[in-house]
Amino acid sequence: MGPEGYTFGYSAAAVALMAFRTAESHAAFLLRELKPQMSLLDVGCGPGTITLGLARAVHPGTVVGIELDLEQTRHVAEQAHDEGLDLSFARGDVYDLPYSDDSFDAVFLSAVVGNLRHPIDGFRELYRVLRPGGLIGVKEFDHGGNLAFPEPEHIKRVNELANRLRLRNGHDPDSGRKVSSYLDAAGFARIRAKATFENLPPAPGIQGSPLMESIVREEWGPKFVELGWATQQEIDQWIEQSAAHVRSGTEFTALAWVEALAFKPTG
Ligand SMILES: C[S@@+](CC[C@H](N)C(=O)[O-])C[C@H]1O[C@@H](n2cnc3c(N)ncnc32)[C@H](O)[C@@H]1O
Repeated sequence: MGPEGYTFGYSAAAVALMAFRTAESHAAFLLRELKPQMSLLDVGCGPGTITLGLARAVHPGTVVGIELDLEQTRHVAEQAHDEGLDLSFARGDVYDLPYSDDSFDAVFLSAVVGNLRHPIDGFRELYRVLRPGGLIGVKEFDHGGNLAFPEPEHIKRVNELANRLRLRNGHDPDSGRKVSSYLDAAGFARIRAKATFENLPPAPGIQGSPLMESIVREEWGPKFVELGWATQQEIDQWIEQSAAHVRSGTEFTALAWVEALAFKPTG
């Protein structure tokens, strides 16, 4: 368990999946607002592939990626060093950031809000470290808005159980739609939010792909079995059926996200 009951447990496959994300693919809405020399904090940066693109955008500015599970960032840290970017990674918790007030020009977080049991407290801490007039960019899933067709029973079941697991871990699968209200509650102003979709597969197959299969095999499946929600035989069948479903090439899957920008008031 991490802070606030956050449960670690991303499999290598899940981290590999996140590592397909780039600033261009997942933070274009923020990239447009960034300028060289800015200082930026990326909280819950995961493997740091998005952070890398943000560091390129503000170069020679300073970027810090904060993670509870810092091991994921090793590869990107080496790449940033090779490129001469001022990008560093540190272990840290969104509820208690190791920075003084008004430290950064911009703050970013992607796919983190849904992991937080007390999102407004997290946003208040981000507000504290942002300078007056500074910008926050938030990208967040909203699994209740996902599109899938056809959606065979086994995929429906895996998705249902994945949401049940998220809720059990204190995570919120529908957090995207709530981001604006959290930003408002934490004191941010000029909030602009919109929903977007990410069509899968963007990388060599995700839904039903070898990577998605690995996540079910290594991460979700064992937890479903441990909790008595499924048998190992069912998990094996689902993985097999997913591979066949993807081979049919007819499925349409899109993940719903919310992208929000807001500012810390100056007055
Ligand atoms: C789904 S991953 C997203 C990673 C990355 N931002 C991306 O979009 O690819 C969520 C990350 O948030 C981190 N995280 C969760 N709770 C956190 C907290 N309280 N403080 C800092 N990081 C946190 C997790 O360790 C995990 O790596």
